[in-house]
Amino acid sequence: MISEKKALTRHADVPGMDVIDHYIKDGGYQGLEKALKRVPQDIVEEVKKSFLRGRGGAGFPTGLKWSFLPKEKTKPFYLVCNADEGEPGTFKDRIIMENDPFLLIEGMTITGYAIRADLGFIYIRGEFKWIAEKLEKAIEQAKKKNLLGKNILNSNYCFDIKVMRGAGAYICGEETALLESIEGKRGEPRTKPPFPANVGLYGCPTIVNNVETLACIPFILQHDAETFKLMGSFQAAGTKLYGISGHVNKPGVYEYPMGTNLKDLIQYAAGGVKNSKKLKAVIPGGLSATILKADEIDVNMDFDSCLKKDTMLGSGGIIVMDEDTSIPEVAMTTINFFTHESCGQCAPCREGLAKIQQILKNLLAGNGTANDLKTIDELANIINGSTLCPLGEAGALAVNAMIQKFRPEFESLVN
Ligand SMILES: Cc1cc2nc3c(=O)[nH]c(=O)nc-3n(C[C@H](O)[C@H](O)[C@H](O)COP(=O)(O)O)c2cc1C
Ligand code: SF4
Repeated sequence: MISEKKALTRHADVPGMDVIDHYIKDGGYQGLEKALKRVPQDIVEEVKKSFLRGRGGAGFPTGLKWSFLPKEKTKPFYLVCNADEGEPGTFKDRIIMENDPFLLIEGMTITGYAIRADLGFIYIRGEFKWIAEKLEKAIEQAKKKNLLGKNILNSNYCFDIKVMRGAGAYICGEETALLESIEGKRGEPRTKPPFPANVGLYGCPTIVNNVETLACIPFILQHDAETFKLMGSFQAAGTKLYGISGHVNKPGVYEYPMGTNLKDLIQYAAGGVKNSKKLKAVIPGGLSATILKADEIDVNMDFDSCLKKDTMLGSGGIIVMDEDTSIPEVAMTTINFFTHESCGQCAPCREGLAKIQQILKNLLAGNGTANDLKTIDELANIINGSTLCPLGEAGALAVNAMIQKFRPEFESLVN
């Protein structure tokens, strides 16, 4: 059996969390009060000690990222919250923003203080219009309570948050494309380095963090780094919001210790495979993650354990497929998505994904040839490592892994 641990969903059973007085009554803003009594560098150190790793997909250590900002402040510093949540199979950030908007706002206010930011942005996917409105109302409430704006809690610290809505492009979840989009430009990734911590929004030092990452900050400051760390499992700190979808009895978002076993999450959190069918495959970390066969799911869901199994934790979006699922059709859906979302800047991604898409389309239409699977493998190898951002290789490698692991299904399509 596994047991839920509630750090991010600790207010989940309390209604009306979008009213600031309710949030405060339930312990909200204690983290900010404690933070403002410390110097900013102290908070960066506390977050480093917590071993918090970014929940946006790459798992970069959060405190370390913050420490990359220039020591000297000659320009404004910005904090950007990545609420694009575009990865297929991912629907956890919206749970935080919909149910507990002040958790994110408090997290951003503490982070803004720690990194000496002048202004914060929440870049939210365009489809989440009602959530954007909810956040705007919450920001207004926080300002009225002197918990945001000028001279917060009479500390001399000034910080404001603006909500910006995207226009539905997956690539705008990539942090530098996101910054371009905020600046009013076409959402295309920038060349890195320089990294946003040095040259970010409007050329100024900027920290980009995911919603879930920022929502962990109030807990760390209200309690301490050690308490947060111990919420996780032996090898991985804190809790994780796992979004489980597909052929399960109870799809949803569940908070468990980071590193909880995938098999147990499917069985106990999501109630097992629907209609007593057999499990066929699982994509563990959003569509970009390498697919696992049913006999490969004995894996702890943390960044390092997933890498050891040649897949990734990514966003923690777990997609479960039963025995009736056609993997070639899953591959087709996958390549359609990535081809459509390619920004087109680099040829291997733009042309390579389109070529794989065409080959798969032919295969599924019964017009494939014996060479097709080899060609996809070669294309995936060419795209891998030759693109400006990870989107191209994510699409190609995800599809290629489906072919390698479920080869007979694809071979049966060849004439
Ligand atoms: C194509 C692509 C899409 C991405 N989409 C998201 C997203 O929707 N949300 C997110 O937080 N990070 C996304 N990322 C990761 C961000 O670039 C960045 O690493 C993250 O926001 C950093 O936050 P963290 O350190 O808190 O994880 C995406 C990356 C790529 C390459
Ligand atoms: S890999 Fe694809 S999405 Fe990323 S920059 Fe290149 S063309 Fe654009």
